[in-house]
This record gives sequence, structure tokens and C-alpha cells, in this order.
Amino acid sequence: MPDSSNSLSQRKKEHLQLCLTEDVSFKEKRNGFENYEFKHFAITEVEIKKIFFDTKFFDKKINYPFLISCMTGGADEAENINAQLAIAANELNIALGVGSQRHALESTKYHGSYKVIRKNAPGIPILGNIGAAELIKKDVISKIQSLVDLIEADAMVVHVNALQELLQNNGEPNFKGLLKSLEKVVSLLKVPVIVKEVGAGISKEVAKKILSSGVKGIDVAGAGGTSWAGVEILRNKKNDENIFWDWGLPTSYCLRKIHKLKNEFDFLLIGSGGITNALDSAKAFALGADITASAITVLKKLDKNGIEGVIKLITEWFDTLKKILFLTGSSSIEDLRKGKIIRKEKLY
Ligand SMILES: Cc1cc2nc3c(=O)[nH]c(=O)nc-3n(C[C@H](O)[C@H](O)[C@H](O)COP(=O)(O)O)c2cc1C
Repeated sequence: MPDSSNSLSQRKKEHLQLCLTEDVSFKEKRNGFENYEFKHFAITEVEIKKIFFDTKFFDKKINYPFLISCMTGGADEAENINAQLAIAANELNIALGVGSQRHALESTKYHGSYKVIRKNAPGIPILGNIGAAELIKKDVISKIQSLVDLIEADAMVVHVNALQELLQNNGEPNFKGLLKSLEKVVSLLKVPVIVKEVGAGISKEVAKKILSSGVKGIDVAGAGGTSWAGVEILRNKKNDENIFWDWGLPTSYCLRKIHKLKNEFDFLLIGSGGITNALDSAKAFALGADITASAITVLKKLDKNGIEGVIKLITEWFDTLKKILFLTGSSSIEDLRKGKIIRKEKLY
């Protein structure tokens, strides 16, 4: 049976609580960046003061190539969290995603928890969000533009979360007809469509099929950060499902493979999944990401240190990135993509 809107908001609440109070990271698998290091460039002539990160997210200018990943909406707690994330994102002038808007399709009760983002962040790129399991349902596609309008979104994200749907109580592990639905939604919407995973990663083969449907962005959301299998296992307490906790393709692998599709398709490649600091971001850029994104790291920082904490985190993150550019002889992120990263040597 599909969830009622009440149980949807209850689920959102449990997700937030578990992410803030339990260890929901992968147990052994890492994001893959641990296998790489930068080539130290001993004769760097880069001038740190002349490094700038402003770039574009589709049509809008942003100050840093950073996105706060889609997290919440459709629950009591969500409005305050989204309001604070929006204030921080607006101050930083970076992109911000909302959590699944499924609730907004079923009820107007929590529309405010989504709308609060645009209210607090008039100029930044905002991303709408809906799950693949919803998108394929009859009559849903025709309502997606209304979700875009609700938050004045600049792009619409479709999340593909097969593993999570499979393990979730009352989950809907059925994506039949997804590629056709993607084609349709791409042609109907006035804004670009992005497809993202939620922590199990996207392979090159899958990315190619997605991009062939006209999608303009891929967020790999690879393995190594938040395990959504882990979150659902903690919720449903089925120990036999523990084998899925670490399921998924590491973020580094997804980026390394998918960025090769840049020769065939024009798309935004978002590196996420276990991106927790400047070094992770730098490695993601070096492996081909256009921008990087983080979910749980930002949520935890907000919980602990508030809006100012998030602003400080991201500002310092990109100050540190400047140091990495300096040490690798790169005067821009584009330079960082030019052979600056190597597989780690086995020294012993
Ligand atoms: C509390 C929380 C709620 C989330 N809700 C959504 C969601 O509604 N839609 C979505 O596409 N991804 C959702 N995600 C997944 C993130 O956007 C992201 O893809 C994933 O957590 C991996 O990134 P991380 O390792 O930086 O956490 C959520 C993540 C967190 C932490």
C-alpha cells in the first residue's frame, strides 16, 4: 500500500533523526578517493590571491562550485532546516536542493516547508526533487511543473534510489518505464532535469541511457558517505539485510567513468557521496566533476553550529581548496583536471 501523507512526514522525520544521531556511514567501503593523491608540484608559481571559484549552475552565477544536496521538506522539522540552509546558501551564493516533494503532490499541509527556501534565497539556484518510483506513476508527470513552480526551481532532480526502495518498509521498488518517463518529463518541463542516486552511485552505462533521454545533469551520489541501505536497516531492524549496507559504486569510480561521456553529451556532472572536505572536493574535480555536493556533512554542521557554522564550513573549505590548487600548480579548477592526480604508489 502506498504511504499516506502522514506516514510520509513521519518517515522524513525518522530519516533526519537517524542521520543526526546514529552512525549511518558505510561500514568498510570508502568513496574511493583514498586511492588517489595529488602530484605535488614543487615549483608552483600559482598566485593564491588570483584564484577565483565563481562559476555557473546552468544559467545562474554561483560563487563556489558547491551544492547542498537534496535533503528535506514535507515534515514539521523540515521548514526550519530548509529556512536555515537557504539563508546560508544565499549568503554563500551556492546552489541548494530540496528533499523529495512527494508530500507536496499529495497534500498542501507542508508546502511552506518547501516554499521557505525561495523566500530566504531569492537569487540562488534551487533544485526540486522527486523520486523515480513516483515519476513513473500515472498522471504524476503532468504535475511535476507544479512542483517546480512551488519553489521557483531552476532545475528538477529525479532521484533513483532502487536500493533504498527495496529495503524500506512500504518502499516501492518499481521503476518500470523510467527512461520513457524521463524523456517525457524532460520535454514537458521548462527547466533542466538532473538525475541523482542517493549513495549507491551511477555507472557510465546507466549515465549514458539517462543522458540519451535528454537529462542535463548527473549527480553520481556514490558510495562512501551516507548509506541509505544503512538508514533503512536501522529503521526496519532486519539484520539479514546487513549485507546491503555497503552496496554501491564508490564516488571516485562513478566520476572517473562518467566524465568520459562529456565527449558525447553536454551535461553538468555533480560529484557527491561522501564528500566531506576540500580534499574530497579537489579529487572529485580532478576526476571530472563540474561541481561537488554534500548532504550529511552540511546537515550535521547546521545541527551543531547553525547557519554561521555552515557558512564558515564552506568558506574555509574553498580557502583550503586554494591551497591544494597552489600545491598542484593549478590556477583554476579546470587546471586541476589536467593530469594532477595519480593513483597512490605502494611505497612498502
Ligand atoms: C537527512 C537526509 C535526507 C535526504 N533526503 C533526500 C531526498 O529527499 N531526496 C534525495 O534525492 N536525496 C536525499 N538524501 C540523499 C542526499 O541528497 C545524498 O545523495 C546522499 O546522502 C549522499 O550524500 P552524503 O554522503 O554527502 O550524505 C538525503 C540525505 C540526508 C542526509
